[in-house]
Amino acid sequence: MPGALGVSVAELLTGEVRENANRAGNLLRAKFYVCPICGNVVTALGEGAFSCCGSQLMPQDAEDAPDEGPHAIKVERIEDEWYVTLDHPMTKDHFVSFIAYATMDGMQLRKLYPEQSAEARFRIGSSGYLYAFCNRHGLFRMRTPRRR
Ligand SMILES: [Fe+2]
Repeated sequence: MPGALGVSVAELLTGEVRENANRAGNLLRAKFYVCPICGNVVTALGEGAFSCCGSQLMPQDAEDAPDEGPHAIKVERIEDEWYVTLDHPMTKDHFVSFIAYATMDGMQLRKLYPEQSAEARFRIGSSGYLYAFCNRHGLFRMRTPRRR
């Protein structure tokens, strides 16, 4: 029974035990783990050992969102919400599968599906990051704009 050893099955299989160095972790350092098989999404305060559909998930590296093109994250303020959009395909093979807003102490995540529009609304909290995950091109992020 692996639980008796205090390590997870995934850790046993990789021979790597993850010591949590993120005891004071906060969501500005959030990690996203996405299952390449079923699309499951795990968010964590920092790195950890997570698995889904029989394989170990690796944390997604967030790339700075470009200013233009399909992975540009556009944001405008509408009343007390951030209105986030991408001009990105939303087909079955290529789509934005979630958009998230992370601050130091909170995370809001909207799951998206093909044929929907690539958009989300988030109640504005403190400053942080906006993330968009494309099933083909990975994770993009930008800092939230200054609140006006
Ligand atoms: Fe894409």
